[in-house]
Amino acid sequence: MKKLFAVLLVTAVLAGLAACTPSLKPGNASLKPFKAGTWIVVEDGGDDAKTYTFTDSMTECSYCSGLACMPFDYEISGSSYIFHMGSADDNSVVNAVFDGDEDCTLTWEDSGRVETIQYVGDKEPEKEVNIYMVLVNKQNKLPDNWENMIELATGTNSVGENYLVEKKALEAFEKLRAALLEEGIDIELDSTYRTVEYQQKIWDEFEDEKGLDYARQYVAVPGFSEHHTGLAIDVMLIKDGEVIDDNDDMIAEKEIFAKVHARLAEFGFILRYPEGKDEITGYSYEPWHFRYIDSPEIAKEIMDSGITLEEYLGKQ
Ligand code: DAL
Ligand code: ZN
Repeated sequence: MKKLFAVLLVTAVLAGLAACTPSLKPGNASLKPFKAGTWIVVEDGGDDAKTYTFTDSMTECSYCSGLACMPFDYEISGSSYIFHMGSADDNSVVNAVFDGDEDCTLTWEDSGRVETIQYVGDKEPEKEVNIYMVLVNKQNKLPDNWENMIELATGTNSVGENYLVEKKALEAFEKLRAALLEEGIDIELDSTYRTVEYQQKIWDEFEDEKGLDYARQYVAVPGFSEHHTGLAIDVMLIKDGEVIDDNDDMIAEKEIFAKVHARLAEFGFILRYPEGKDEITGYSYEPWHFRYIDSPEIAKEIMDSGITLEEYLGKQ
């Protein structure tokens, strides 16, 4: 009798456990959770550097394109999946057709885009990443191993100071500077590649001199500065033989900076912290901080529409 009771108890416990596990929708055999691990996009009509990482719990999934990753989760709903991309407000309905456990075709209802994705296991695949589109901000720190992904070169300003800048960014800057000199505007390298230690020094100086609030508005916490990438350039102005490098003085030079900003995209640069975008970038207006993205076309799109890199990449 005792034995029968024990068997019944175990059966009841197991039944209880089964009720807690996510269940497949009855009557629709093609709908099932994605196998946990990384899926690469093998075909989507363009962007081949995307991956989806699904987890068992469906709470920590991420979607990565290039170096930028966005969290999402998903749920099975009727005969479709709903992907909650980035935030709960941004929901996309996706029809998924599995071909076995490790191949699947996704059709996004909103755009009609079709992606074929393939399971590649629990490791991130080696990806060709576009270093020039990296997002480093208050939420995204410098990617690991970054120093091995870039080549730094030395630029010299007309005051004779040397600066390290990512190689292509430096070449583009020299062209931008030459083009502006023809308009009678002199911009000079003022702050470029920074180590984490150097960023700490800058942070400490600003905090001491201007206070914590000011430091938060204008200086990144070490490890989270775009200057670590080598792709960011702060300029100073030389006007009538005078160096203008103080933040407030440069913000006051509206006319000159309007002309400078109008030429940035042509050389693959964007204005990284535009006016009125503090909520998105996390920083106050910095007319002097340019970011090289290596694509005049994308730079033009960003500058013409007045958006930030965060908005372009769909991420904050
Ligand atoms: N001034 C920018 C935000 C930095 O410190 O990286
Ligand atoms: Zn800067």
